[in-house]
Amino acid sequence: MEAPDSISYLTQREAAEIDDTLMGPLGFSVDQLMELAGLSVATSIAQVYKPSEWPCSYCMCQASLCWIGCLARITVNPFLSMEDLSLDWSKDFDVIIDAMFGFSFYGTPRPPFDDLIKRLVSLHNSDQVDKERSVIISIDIPSGWHVEEGDFHGEGIKPDILVSLTAPKLCAKKFSGTHHFLGALRENYISPEFLEEQVEVDPIKQFYKWFDNALTAGLREPNAMALSTVGKDGKPSSRMVLLKGVDKDGFVWYTNYESRKARELSENPHASLLFYWDGPNSHVILSF
Ligand SMILES: Cc1cc2nc3c(=O)[nH]c(=O)nc-3n(C[C@H](O)[C@H](O)[C@H](O)COP(=O)(O)O)c2cc1C
Repeated sequence: MEAPDSISYLTQREAAEIDDTLMGPLGFSVDQLMELAGLSVATSIAQVYKPSEWPCSYCMCQASLCWIGCLARITVNPFLSMEDLSLDWSKDFDVIIDAMFGFSFYGTPRPPFDDLIKRLVSLHNSDQVDKERSVIISIDIPSGWHVEEGDFHGEGIKPDILVSLTAPKLCAKKFSGTHHFLGALRENYISPEFLEEQVEVDPIKQFYKWFDNALTAGLREPNAMALSTVGKDGKPSSRMVLLKGVDKDGFVWYTNYESRKARELSENPHASLLFYWDGPNSHVILSF
């Protein structure tokens, strides 16, 4: 399988620089990045092995732990040590997730990872061809592969599925399995620059400008807004309502006088409106 030209691949150094940016100026913690990586992997696996159709067992090989669980219920059972695992993993696991090494790996795998890698490699041995064998899903880098050159001795793990985190590393060009998922980190919520000199002095005029942008973006209901109210018990409540007009007297929307929001506004006139426009990637908060 040829690697498509439209995909960009990262060198080991570029991947490290992206991590530095994520954990530096962008303020992500390791836990958050791990959480997002887990979400990418779970989503990718669920696309190929839909939990409803594949009530299969899986094993996760991670740098510090070995996990075994059941994909159908996405539960993770007690951590297993190497000794607890049988020699032939195909008997025990339908899906094996290889999450041992990331893009910072170099050199020769040390114990116990060398043994884990051997076991993953042996799943592809020729005498196992006719046997049902476990599927291997590698996260970011097939463990033991050179991050840029790939499996240059040809003796490494041959994953069936690769989930590249953030962007694929150069070794992914050598991947020849059935599915390659690009697990983008997250939506990019960076908005266009907001310059003070471009802001209208009249806030209603500014709102019209933003609302026009939202209309131009072709969003389904740009006039949908979250209305938050607080009644006399002091507890806030929010719900969606539709903006029907804006003028010098305020923002117009309709509702039933018997509704909770109407009751709460009669008890306490303070409220907040929130618009969120996905396309232009902006939101407006109004407090009264
Ligand atoms: C997109 C959207 C727009 C809505 N617009 C209105 C509206 O304009 N007026 C309204 O009374 N309820 C509207 N609703 C229903 C409210 O969100 C809410 O469920 C209902 O008014 C009861 O709210 P309350 O019991 O908190 O007062 C809308 C719901 C959605 C999802």
